[in-house]
Amino acid sequence: MKAKSIIALVAILAVLPTAYAIVDIKIDASKPGPVISPFMWGIFFEDINFAADGGISAELIKNRGFEFPDHLMGWKIICPPNSKATVFVTNSTPFNVNNSNYLRISNDSYETNIGIENNGFRGIGVKSNETYNFSAWLRSAPASNFKIEVRLISIQGQTLASGKISNINDKWTYNTLSLKPNSTDAKASLQILVSGKGTIDLDMISLYPKNTWKNRPNGLRADIVQMLADLHPGFMRFPGGCIVEGRTLENRYQWKNTIGKPENRKLIINRWNTEFKHRPAPDYYQSYALGFFEFFQLCEDIGATPLPIINCGMACQFNSGELAPMDQLDQYIQDALDLIEFANGPITSKWGKVRADLGHPKPFNLKMLGIGNEQWGPQYIERYKVFANILKSKHPEILLVSSAGPDPDGEKFDFLWTQLRKLNADIIDEHYYRPPKWFLENTHRYDSYNRTGPKVFAGEYAAQSVGVASPANQNTLECAIAEAAFMTGLERNADVVVMSSYAPLLAHVDAWQWTPDLIWFDNLNVYGTPSYYVQKMFSNNRGNFVIKTEISGIDPKKTVFANSVFDKNKNEIILKLVNPNETDFQCQISIDGTKLVHGTSTVSILSGNNPSDSNSIQSPTNIVPKISKININTQNFIYTAPKLSFSVIRIPTKK
Ligand code: AHR
Repeated sequence: MKAKSIIALVAILAVLPTAYAIVDIKIDASKPGPVISPFMWGIFFEDINFAADGGISAELIKNRGFEFPDHLMGWKIICPPNSKATVFVTNSTPFNVNNSNYLRISNDSYETNIGIENNGFRGIGVKSNETYNFSAWLRSAPASNFKIEVRLISIQGQTLASGKISNINDKWTYNTLSLKPNSTDAKASLQILVSGKGTIDLDMISLYPKNTWKNRPNGLRADIVQMLADLHPGFMRFPGGCIVEGRTLENRYQWKNTIGKPENRKLIINRWNTEFKHRPAPDYYQSYALGFFEFFQLCEDIGATPLPIINCGMACQFNSGELAPMDQLDQYIQDALDLIEFANGPITSKWGKVRADLGHPKPFNLKMLGIGNEQWGPQYIERYKVFANILKSKHPEILLVSSAGPDPDGEKFDFLWTQLRKLNADIIDEHYYRPPKWFLENTHRYDSYNRTGPKVFAGEYAAQSVGVASPANQNTLECAIAEAAFMTGLERNADVVVMSSYAPLLAHVDAWQWTPDLIWFDNLNVYGTPSYYVQKMFSNNRGNFVIKTEISGIDPKKTVFANSVFDKNKNEIILKLVNPNETDFQCQISIDGTKLVHGTSTVSILSGNNPSDSNSIQSPTNIVPKISKININTQNFIYTAPKLSFSVIRIPTKK
């Protein structure tokens, strides 16, 4: 070892805490392994936990069209008990039949302070001095003479901003005004008060921040989308999840109902509204403010290949398990064909024109489509067969994703794999909601998978700190580290596993049904969990192909996990190294098969003191990767992996 290298090594060791175990990691850059698919690390958007309405959709008004079955849910009528004025929901002459309800206020005695108040999605989050765009469809009865005052009210009852609308006439008219609150409030509300005389109708009452993602009117929350964009996801699966299936078929997700003008999008209940008795969400509906056009646009914005999932004639098998009879699958298949045309068809085609009319003449470049969500049994296989036959004959260019059911093993899983293999399926979606231990024990799951036939999509996974879907689950460092270990196994087997995504993606801290989740938010803030940073570290360090990485000298009870890839653009080896132990690990790393550029390497380390460490709205950056430089001046060096850590080391090599 040259003197300079020894000095560098001593320098590394000097600053490191005592390490308790030694392991050898041998990397051979002359032994390339599988190519890593550009879709390897993606995201799975599911409308659960208020991910869409009340979440990434920036609409701040809940039940804006009075279409919830309890028409005034989310609204409070402002009308003193002895008043002669009336405030009620009706549907006699709507301006849009898909959203037929509207609010009618009659006030014949010039009473003041009559109106309604909306408290948003567990409050309306507004920021001081930002602009909020209010809009509503309004109509007054002939001979009425009204003015409307719109106010943002703080949780303490102070007026944060106000504006007025006049000139309301007897035709349904779209009215707008801007509000600029004088202070920040996470739990504000919106009041609409009428003054004057007569009868007025109000519908589609809406409030969006001006500052949305890409400043699109009626757009998405910029802070949440930024978190997704920062992942540089290879794909985005949407819109679920069980909502694709619905508790019954009537309640399934139908993409055609989610596009076009907001008032055309017919609201339905979100199946998570009633799913968990312990986490009821009576105000959870799908207004489709975020619909399929916005999903495709979002994919395009963040560079993710779209992976829409369509219903295959099966309602959720954890609920009704309702089946569309085999001779009535046509409409489901037609929806799939039309979706492909909507995404990719020329503007001269029926659905391509719809896309163009919505403002996107260029195709969305759809390459994959999921047939059903988490289905199982012979009923799935017989339906999948029909879908696959038709879709493959008409669109051989589209890869089909099929289901391996809800568990990563067992009878259902084995049956589906056997059948789908026979059918020569393209990609099979496996789900694993398991304890952290399972993830550590399954890092070699794919080493022995059949290399031919269908590829794997690790489509839903998350380490469960307490139990599957237990409300006590936490997004701990321990879980994140276990997932990182498992992901080294996905990466090493990139010839088998071509896509993967953590699930679920998003959760509102006051309105969630399922935990753990990758990203949490409230009405004003968003933060990533330790699992988020694991996903980010993998996906921002994808590399192009695997290189041989062997670990030896391990005490079987105490081990580390590692894999390396090569980044052709930067000519760097990227070593991913996971130490799940509660003691530091000294790793003797040797690199063969290439010459290193001596000098600075970059190390990102995600670590903490305790397995239960986590992030929160109050401490959003408690556990985040710390980036530093180390000097590597020799082909053999020691790296100490801190206890409970995930390290990504980028090592430059000579061309
Ligand atoms: O992610 C939560 C649920 O888990 C999904 O909706 C479903 O696909 C799986 O059962």
